[in-house]
Amino acid sequence: MSAPPFTPPDRAAVLCGLAGWLPPRVVTNEELSQRLDTSDAWIRTRTGISGRHFAEPGQATSDLAVEAGRRALRSAGAEDVDAVVVATTTPDRSCPATAPLVASRLGLTGVAAFDVSAVCTGFVYGLASAASLITAGVAERVLLIGADTYSTIVDPHDRANAIIFGDGAGAVVLRAGRSDEPGAVGHFDLGSDGTGEELIMVAAGGSRQRSASNPIDPQDRYFTMRGKEVYRHAVTRMTASAHATLTLADRKVDDIDRIVPHQANLRILRSVAEDLGLPPERLVTNVESVGNTGAASIPLALADAAAQHTIQAGERVLLTAFGGGLTWGSCLLTWPALSRIDRPHDTGGTQES
Ligand code: COA
Repeated sequence: MSAPPFTPPDRAAVLCGLAGWLPPRVVTNEELSQRLDTSDAWIRTRTGISGRHFAEPGQATSDLAVEAGRRALRSAGAEDVDAVVVATTTPDRSCPATAPLVASRLGLTGVAAFDVSAVCTGFVYGLASAASLITAGVAERVLLIGADTYSTIVDPHDRANAIIFGDGAGAVVLRAGRSDEPGAVGHFDLGSDGTGEELIMVAAGGSRQRSASNPIDPQDRYFTMRGKEVYRHAVTRMTASAHATLTLADRKVDDIDRIVPHQANLRILRSVAEDLGLPPERLVTNVESVGNTGAASIPLALADAAAQHTIQAGERVLLTAFGGGLTWGSCLLTWPALSRIDRPHDTGGTQES
């Protein structure tokens, strides 16, 4: 007789807690128009964004991550986890990772903690990594936080990018459960294409620049993006990845109740929904009020939608993301009944779901 498998075959990671947190400072299009050659009308028409949140000077990604993480643990009714994963493009430092600091500040000293770097696809990559820890039997419960402070890497004088990005953090708690339970995450589709490295990047700060003998151009410290090309890739990659995930799960587009894409730009999101053949009311967005928050954007959109009952228990939800790398990824889950959701915009109270 063969030995029993290390983990049961139907063991899955189940979403059991969710929260978002936004720094209180709101930066409106009007405020940006006072210092940049742009206008509220231009920004709304091209991106759908009317405002975004910025961290205060001195506030780092871990500060936002701790707030979201604490709320997600509360939402899950969990006091501890076995691992903390932080998805971010704006870690507190290039060394060490941000996750161990976040874990310690949450009172989770001693647990496994590491960062995931996949730019705006970070949350979906992080979800696959966190879920894998559970399905492999390494962890029973994992806290995954997507957090970014783009205001620290975007050139405030760069009108093309300064209007798009905002700061924020969103978090989920995953627990061990069964694959047929609501909240079980998967199937996943993940992909990358490094030939597109230069479409989205921060040129300086890494070993490529540090190993070069020429002095650093101060402008290279800032985030750059080739907007038009990125736009096209974002639509085609998210659409293709969504289709790939549905195929893996033996599902059809009609089976999807809600699609929650990475909140890049409202036009991109509408194009993805349209190309998939999904009616606009199934598209979940909050980019209008938060901008593109990188790795935080999907959990922030989920927390917003769940708190406002836009996403309901039992609905089939498709997450899809695209980001620098290039990277992309999607995940399918049936929405679970969550008892408490914190609205990302509220810095204080909680709301029953
Ligand atoms: N305000 C006013 N004018 C602006 C502007 C701003 N904030 N930013 C750019 N412009 C100007 C450009 O200079 C250009 O002027 P020109 O025609 O005189 O040269 C004109 O508007 C058109 O610029 P373009 O870059 O072609 O605009 P666009 O329609 O492609 O919109 C983005 C620019 C950045 C909004 C768009 O490319 C985009 O959303 N890309 C994807 C970004 C994104 O979501 N990335 C995240 C993916 S993870």
